[in-house]
Amino acid sequence: MSASSVWRGAGRRVYLQEVGTRDGLQAESAFVPTPDKVALVDALSAAGLAKIEVTAFVSPKAIPALRDAEQVLREIRRAPEVVYSALVPNVRGAERAIESRADELNLVMSATESHNLSNLRMTREQSFAGLAEVAAVARGAGVAVNVSLSCAFGCPMEGDVDSAGVLDWCGRCVEQLGAHGVTLCDTTGMAYPTQVAQLTEAFRARWPGTELTLHFHNTRGMGLANVLAALDAGADRFDASFGGIGGCPYAPGASGNVCTEEIAHALALMGYDTGIDLPRLLAAAARLPALIGHDIPSQIVKAGPRLDLHPRPADFEAIRERALARDPAGA
Ligand code: COA
Ligand code: ZN
Repeated sequence: MSASSVWRGAGRRVYLQEVGTRDGLQAESAFVPTPDKVALVDALSAAGLAKIEVTAFVSPKAIPALRDAEQVLREIRRAPEVVYSALVPNVRGAERAIESRADELNLVMSATESHNLSNLRMTREQSFAGLAEVAAVARGAGVAVNVSLSCAFGCPMEGDVDSAGVLDWCGRCVEQLGAHGVTLCDTTGMAYPTQVAQLTEAFRARWPGTELTLHFHNTRGMGLANVLAALDAGADRFDASFGGIGGCPYAPGASGNVCTEEIAHALALMGYDTGIDLPRLLAAAARLPALIGHDIPSQIVKAGPRLDLHPRPADFEAIRERALARDPAGA
């Protein structure tokens, strides 16, 4: 068995979707040069991610970090088994993404009115009408649509979010927009495992044929626990960011997405097949600090995988001899 295949469990398939080059890099003040972004996406493709949200086709004034979206999508090497997705906020973004041959458009709205108005400057109904236009453009071009519902597990302004209301929005996305996938986003890390299990089960029961993705942030340390709860409840797709990057550097307490290599490491140990080549993924994440100018949260980059062993102390034999001299019966 090669070193890398050790990290592929033989059990249930779980699809890991990388969002670091979009959700992560959009929050960074440093502009990562285009050739480095291309190299990172290529490294992530080689590391076995099922889907990569490569970039966002948004206003370059709003998010200068991703102003090279066209060039990145043009220059990456596409692996046939990887879905290359892009976030689009409007029809203009959809046209740019389609022209750049994105495999999938990721549309965004919030499950709560306060967050939608604050973030997107529209009511939810206005956003939904906009998404319908974008979905029509995508359908015309034969490109798949995923809708990400922000604040599906809690809103920083409204607090608890009624899961029946979240499921109603999911229903409209699937049935009215024809979305092939829906992502339930825990935008500010408010989700907790029992809640995640309940919403996952309800979604799976109603739309068994729709791709369901769970998108957790690790803001309150519940990221991995939420992933495990969702898995037990029937989910098989998760967004995550390599290095654990993401989160606005200026917002107090903000934090990144769950960390791809932490999830891949834990799930492989538990026997799931994530398709991930962990050493390759770690090599990609290890390039991030030099590119973004600061340390990354990833515990696996810091500590190494579980069985990366350390040598015994140099004077180990002397320690043993001294211990046995004190108490020979301890041998
Ligand atoms: N691609 C490129 N430029 C775009 C664009 C797109 N998809 N959408 C809008 N723009 C440009 C417009 O051309 C205009 O530019 P100008 O000022 O030079 O004329 C400017 O952005 C404002 O456009 P307008 O039509 O008034 O849109 P808006 O102000 O309602 O735009 C957004 C809102 C959401 C499209 C824009 O603010 C944006 O892209 N924000 C980023 C949202 C995001 O990615 N958030 C994080 C992920 S959830
Ligand atoms: Zn997010």
